[in-house]
Amino acid sequence: MSVGILGTGHYVPSNVVTNKDMEKIVETSDEWIRTRTGIEERRIAGDDVDTSDMAFFAAQDALKEANIKAEELDLILVATVTPDSPFPSVACRIQDRLGAENAAAMDIGAACSGFMYGVITAKQFIDTNAYKHILVVGVEKLSKITDWKDRNTCVLFGDGAGAAVVGKVSEGKGILSFELGANGAGGKHLYQDDKQHLIQNGREVFKFAVRQMPKSAVSVIEKIGLNKDEVDYLIPHQANIRIMDAARERLGISEGKMAKSITKYGNTSAASIPIALSEDVKNGKIKDNDLLVLVGFGGGLTWGAVALRW
Ligand code: ACO
Repeated sequence: MSVGILGTGHYVPSNVVTNKDMEKIVETSDEWIRTRTGIEERRIAGDDVDTSDMAFFAAQDALKEANIKAEELDLILVATVTPDSPFPSVACRIQDRLGAENAAAMDIGAACSGFMYGVITAKQFIDTNAYKHILVVGVEKLSKITDWKDRNTCVLFGDGAGAAVVGKVSEGKGILSFELGANGAGGKHLYQDDKQHLIQNGREVFKFAVRQMPKSAVSVIEKIGLNKDEVDYLIPHQANIRIMDAARERLGISEGKMAKSITKYGNTSAASIPIALSEDVKNGKIKDNDLLVLVGFGGGLTWGAVALRW
């Protein structure tokens, strides 16, 4: 047996904010946002929906798809930089709401790479037979920490949640290899300031991401001795279409083989990879036995990737 994903889920708020709407908030244009980032619209949660609400909805969806009861969970890991509060954690909040009475629970802080850190952490507990079922959630309400007066950042982000239940799958399937990394020296390029706003040096983050994402995507494939052309589907962190395309081109795969939910949801940080995964499992783009590469990068700076046989 190996370790893989037993079910996926996601939730996005119903409130759609288009690029045209953004034109009314800051000096920007639909054309600028589309061509520089690939984003067409994003979802923004109302005051009545906090991070743990979105995490809870995505978790329910994943448990249903996995056919696992909340009581069967041993651990809940929630990747987020926008918790309802530093404590209780989002993981503890949803442990209660789900009725996951047998699960330990904690949040993980690795910014946009958080879901990758979560899945790879979950794998270790299952590999050692310490635990059987682990819920990993990536969730952000970035609208809470967005400076709505700063056009450099506010056009980029959105809210949402994605989740996966990690457990044992048949041999040859599941996670085949992984890579995690961090470069704390680059932390100054992407951080939260005293006013709690997300601040970034877009060009520096772009340079880092365009180098690291393709490198990690190729590395997890090479680690298992496979060729790049054997990759069936790529799910990169949805931050900027130009960065995503750099990873896709390095793997030498066509546009149709890459998740592209950035157009609808913008950058949802830790939620972007699990939302894309859940959507593309549900709409049939990801099929049984497909070789997937999931790769993310984010604040820290951090990065993480897995090669996974679905
Ligand atoms: N509308 C119109 N003009 C804008 C906007 C906007 N929304 N934002 C910036 N501009 C202007 C700038 O002021 C600049 O003008 P200037 O030349 O007169 O100074 C001009 O557009 C070009 O700016 P650049 O920084 O060169 O634009 P670039 O092509 O680099 O795109 C972007 C900017 C989209 C931010 C890009 O750098 C990027 O995607 N970087 C990576 C961001 C990222 O991936 N972040 C991850 C965050 S993950 C996390 O942890 C939450």
